[in-house]
Amino acid sequence: MTTEDLRTAQRAADELRQRTGVDSYAAAFVMGSGWGAAADALGEVVAEVETSALPGFQPPAVTGHSGRIRSVRSGDRDLLVFLGRTHLYEGHGTAAVVHGVRTATAAGASRIVLTNAAGSLNAEMPVGSTVLIADHINMTGESPLEGPSFVDLSDTYSASLRAAAREADTTLREGVYAAMRGPQFETPAEIRMLRMMGADLVGMSTALEAIAAREQGASVLGVSLVTNLAAGLAGQPLNHNEVLETGREAAAGVGDLLAGIAARL
Ligand code: 6GU
Repeated sequence: MTTEDLRTAQRAADELRQRTGVDSYAAAFVMGSGWGAAADALGEVVAEVETSALPGFQPPAVTGHSGRIRSVRSGDRDLLVFLGRTHLYEGHGTAAVVHGVRTATAAGASRIVLTNAAGSLNAEMPVGSTVLIADHINMTGESPLEGPSFVDLSDTYSASLRAAAREADTTLREGVYAAMRGPQFETPAEIRMLRMMGADLVGMSTALEAIAAREQGASVLGVSLVTNLAAGLAGQPLNHNEVLETGREAAAGVGDLLAGIAARL
């Protein structure tokens, strides 16, 4: 990251602290497509800030992503909850994609929970299931890092946070998430390639944010909600409405999972 990116995140964190009255956050949750309705399960909403009021945030572009940040009280902890995120395919660059995570770490969050909607490449991860991200394959061709920032990614998705999540839900499977630039969904040939590479899930977010969080020394937990099967596996075309609909249907169960994770962070 550049010093300019760091300064913008620090200014956003300062403004956020001022508006919420919270000095330091324990953790941040980034809500992906279809996860928004489940955010209410995280705790009591103490304050809500529009991202347009903070430096460095881009206006939201996609249905299902709303551009607000909540300050939530969960037990004796304060959590940041991002409703909506910026995606690489929106064209604002990698710094914009990871600005929320950098703002969260600048506001003290040492644990970052990244949620997303994903397509499944694995028959054992059906539509409607939630899957812990064990590792990722960054196929975006991008990095949020610049210069000699040789960040180690061998424990990107924290083994201890994954163990805590499995305590909350003992049926959770773990998989490898392939991050694509999008916005197009993949071709069936691309999905066959990703399967050969070892991917179980495919989506358009999370990996760059995880890298940025690791650069700041934060621990990362990634959770995917499988909203559809990947191209060539379902025998029907993919569409964004299907992604949102599955999210709405899964909201109750997903809320329980988030509450269980928040209690064990
Ligand atoms: Cl199949 N591909 C990508 N790239 N993103 C997705 C998806 C598929 N399903 C949900 N999000």
